[in-house]
Amino acid sequence: MNHKAELAPAGPESIASAAQILRGRGLVAFPTETVYGLGADATSDEAVAGIYAAKGRPGFNPLIAHVPDLASAQIHGAFNAHAIALAEAFWPGPLTLVVPVQPDCKVSLLARAGLDTLALRAPDHAVAQALLRALGGPVAAPSANRSGRVSPTTAAHVLADLGERIDMIIDGGACEVGVESTIVSCLDGDVRLLRPGGISREAIEAVLGRAAPVADHADKASSPLAPGMLASHYAPRAQVRMNAAHVGPGEAVLDFASQLQNHPGLRLDLSPNGNLREAAANLFAYLRQLDAPDVGSIAVAPIPMSGLGEAINDRLNRAAAPR
Ligand code: TXA
Ligand code: MG
Repeated sequence: MNHKAELAPAGPESIASAAQILRGRGLVAFPTETVYGLGADATSDEAVAGIYAAKGRPGFNPLIAHVPDLASAQIHGAFNAHAIALAEAFWPGPLTLVVPVQPDCKVSLLARAGLDTLALRAPDHAVAQALLRALGGPVAAPSANRSGRVSPTTAAHVLADLGERIDMIIDGGACEVGVESTIVSCLDGDVRLLRPGGISREAIEAVLGRAAPVADHADKASSPLAPGMLASHYAPRAQVRMNAAHVGPGEAVLDFASQLQNHPGLRLDLSPNGNLREAAANLFAYLRQLDAPDVGSIAVAPIPMSGLGEAINDRLNRAAAPR
């Protein structure tokens, strides 16, 4: 995208047109109480691929799905007693809860980075709330900065960083909290602090009536809860073989740009015409389809390292790493 984003003051008109852009799978930056988010329709792999493309993320971190309230969150995620207590205490507000997905969860696999858990947050900001209610569905939104830069707390920050890569920026003034939300996972009766943020540990522990241990992901790639790390990503059972020039017996094929199309067996092409954004949108769904019980190994065609190709290769290399 090479046009400049429309920078619009917050109001009923800009919110209605932002919801229209989201429905059309476009990208809208909007204010929350923590930082500005870069929003896309969370149910569309294609829209979510646009987020990663705009941010230039070298890998697919799972994203937070934003919803107006607890009732909406429970459509997508399964809340245990701890999660309900925390949501009732701090939502809307700067707290993100990681919970198991509901069986019929509509949040895109790409937004979840292939995981069976989901990060959900109800932001405490009138503009974010109005946008979520106008769309009537979850909005996937990382902080609205390019990868490697600090999170934006004004519309001007977003414009400087992403202005040429997104469709619209809603200006709602400076963010009050200014640091990202606290992330807490509530899985199997286990509560863990994944990221410190806008709500203090003490406040969380007071509601829980117990300690919330920190997930030690900083130096342990094996931690099952580490955001953005190896084990937090969907890991196929089958071996993954990268940069395959040919296909071995019994191998399933994850193709790109029709390079391995003469292979007779199970083959899915991420993008027959070599479009990296389309490939990103298909990646996790195709990996899951190929990871069938009778597939021992998945041969992956070479994928260029340009643009989203870096993130696609990063994700596949993690899947290919010995376990
Ligand atoms: O305040 C915020 O949280 C802002 C505003 C826009 O809401 N958003 C934000 O998003 O900071 P982002 O993408 O910059 O950070 C999301 C974090 C990442 O560290 C990611 O790994 C983690 O959430 N995360 C998302 N889903 C997860 C999951 N299922 N399990 C563990 N961590 C998850
Ligand atoms: Mg961020």
